[in-house]
Amino acid sequence: MLMKKIPIAKPFLGNEEAQAAYDTILTGWVTQGPKVAEFEERFAEYVGAKHAVALSNCTTALHLCMLLAGVEEGDEVICPSMSFIATANSIRYVGAKPVFAEVGEDFNLCLEDTKKKITDKTKAILLVHQLGMPADIESFTAFCKDKNIVLIEDAACAIGSDIEGKRIGSHSDLVCFSLHPRKIITTGDGGMITTSNDAYNEKLRLLRQHGMSVNDRKRHESKKVIFETYDVLGYNYRMTDIQGAVGVEQLKKLDTIVTERRRIAYWYHDKLAELEDKIRLPRERKGIKSNYQSYQITLLDHVEQTVPDIMQAMLDKGISTRRGVMLAHKEPAYTSDNNLDLPHTHKMNTRSMILPLYLGMTEEDVDRICNELKSHLKG
Ligand SMILES: Cc1ncc(COP(=O)(O)O)c(C=O)c1O
Repeated sequence: MLMKKIPIAKPFLGNEEAQAAYDTILTGWVTQGPKVAEFEERFAEYVGAKHAVALSNCTTALHLCMLLAGVEEGDEVICPSMSFIATANSIRYVGAKPVFAEVGEDFNLCLEDTKKKITDKTKAILLVHQLGMPADIESFTAFCKDKNIVLIEDAACAIGSDIEGKRIGSHSDLVCFSLHPRKIITTGDGGMITTSNDAYNEKLRLLRQHGMSVNDRKRHESKKVIFETYDVLGYNYRMTDIQGAVGVEQLKKLDTIVTERRRIAYWYHDKLAELEDKIRLPRERKGIKSNYQSYQITLLDHVEQTVPDIMQAMLDKGISTRRGVMLAHKEPAYTSDNNLDLPHTHKMNTRSMILPLYLGMTEEDVDRICNELKSHLKG
């Protein structure tokens, strides 16, 4: 009998998104326009922020946040090494130095270690809500306020996660989301910044479109001839209207997606509970809700098996898994940081792996994955 393959992830897209893209193409307006504006409005409303500014991806969103925070050459920004490389790269884009701090058991930045890394050059902290699990935003906000440091949130994975019912995106004024297909909702590629700061909102709209004083849509609709000026050094970080239209449809499904992902994560919690003497499960702290963008487990110290061995054994049985979140400081692009001493981060990275989680998975799929994992963790 043919073995059913279980992938690691699948975007949840359907006829609604296809129709929306089709309809938008036929309007003849395909670059940033009314659909992007509608997507932004709905996104802001969903997270509970005053504004949402759509961008080409989360990496460009992070870059613009660095500019708004006034981060420049000679400054330091503290962030976790355990994150997708774009987190640290965004700091380097403005000539500043990423200073890597340890993560805690939830894979999020550790406040105690962050405190040790503060210098008189620290301009900002880039707090990642890793894999959709909300970081301790309250403590970081209080700390940053006290030290007069800017807080930027990398919420690439965290749309739909919340803390005591308050959604990620509404806690601070520079929050960046990703709409890559590996995330909770997608526009192919795409990014969003949420803010309740009017000045930031205006500046972001200028920066994402070449620093242009009057955008192309306004000129197109104007009854009078108007000329634009280019007031600041800007970028082309726009989202297309085709993507905006897809985003509007994805947002309509977001509650369903998050509810379903949480249901699958809780199947994992239940079925793997008997292994908690061997692995740590990604359980939520009291009062917080993860969207479970990924389900990452960690092998405890005394477990002899290695992550690559288990991953290979599972792949041989048709089950895709992924290594735990990468470490930026170990990459060739970060040679001068390669030997940094981050023991906990390093251990978490070598001992972690991600299990499949996507809409359409059945409880039988989860059973099969858990049984396979159990069989490799015997003894
Ligand atoms: C934590 C984190 N930050 C930033 C990014 C970059 O997102 P994008 O691909 O939308 O640029 C990712 C993407 O994987 C991510 O996981």
